[in-house]
Amino acid sequence: MMNNAVLKDLLLKMPKAELHIHIEGSLEPELIFELARRNGVKLNYGSVEELRRAYAFTDLQSFLDIYYAGASVLIKEQDFYDMTMAYLRRAHADNVRYAEIFFDPQTHTERGIAFGTAINGIHRALQDAEKEFGVRGALIMCFLRHLSEEEAFKTLEQSLPYRDKFIGVGLDSSERGHPPEKFARVFARCRELGLHLVAHAGEEGPPEYIRTALDLLKVERIDHGVRCLEDAALTERLARERVPLTVCPLSNIKLRVFDRMPDHNLLQLLDAGLMATVNSDDPAYFGGYLNQNFTEAFEALPLTRQHAQQLARNSFQAAFLDAQAKQKYVDEVDRFFQA
Ligand code: ADE
Ligand code: ZN
Repeated sequence: MMNNAVLKDLLLKMPKAELHIHIEGSLEPELIFELARRNGVKLNYGSVEELRRAYAFTDLQSFLDIYYAGASVLIKEQDFYDMTMAYLRRAHADNVRYAEIFFDPQTHTERGIAFGTAINGIHRALQDAEKEFGVRGALIMCFLRHLSEEEAFKTLEQSLPYRDKFIGVGLDSSERGHPPEKFARVFARCRELGLHLVAHAGEEGPPEYIRTALDLLKVERIDHGVRCLEDAALTERLARERVPLTVCPLSNIKLRVFDRMPDHNLLQLLDAGLMATVNSDDPAYFGGYLNQNFTEAFEALPLTRQHAQQLARNSFQAAFLDAQAKQKYVDEVDRFFQA
């Protein structure tokens, strides 16, 4: 499909927001090796090529094992800064205007890296990127769901001195066997603190996890959520309540949620009236940044110029921006598609 160079050009150039990107998943093998050298960290791979060859995943867990190993080279504040700056440069090249970025503090605090080291480095990069090339960013702190709720509470406690540096919390890592209700109390506390709430659900886990993320965690968006279509009543509810889904096409193929891109359900999600968005998840591991996700999905599926405009509009509409900022970006999208 997409025999159409005009549509591809629109996808690349249209203004867009990214709402589902794990900053540790933007760590390219070259930077992993550079940071390992800088910090004297020993890697289990002899070369960039050998590491890249290990990126052959069979499911979510097989990816997470390598992703956490890759993050072990992040030691100093400057490392977090360099990683984040590299992502924001790539995002800018893809005409991303605004990014809501996940980070996993427990991946670092468990290794003895201070919470402040990670968030200060990431935050400083967000400030510099906005000044240098005009990309806006905001941070969402994720709790690792394979760890306990008590550990999530401890992380929330550590985060409070930095409350002004992040806008919300999320839930990521191994989904199966770690249902949303495990984190009901800590999410209730985050809600009292005025934080935005999101959670990964219905990626590998069943549609029921989407329902419990909404009802028990009271999340405002669902990350992935592609398995919702297995449950007609849930799908109808998501459409009626306009719950955004942050869909990550290349991730879903690499982690075998769908076998091949032509099997991806992005078009069905849109046809069901859902507020779907396109995102990159862990671009250094899954074969591309945001524009690559758009072009590969549009090449494999019968998606049109109207879908492209819808997805660009959705990306801003689903963001945690105030109504005025959303309108400004949506107007920019509409002007772009009129031109
Ligand atoms: N952490 C990083 N990427 C993830 C994904 N796709 N699902 C769950 N946890 C993650
Ligand atoms: Zn994710």
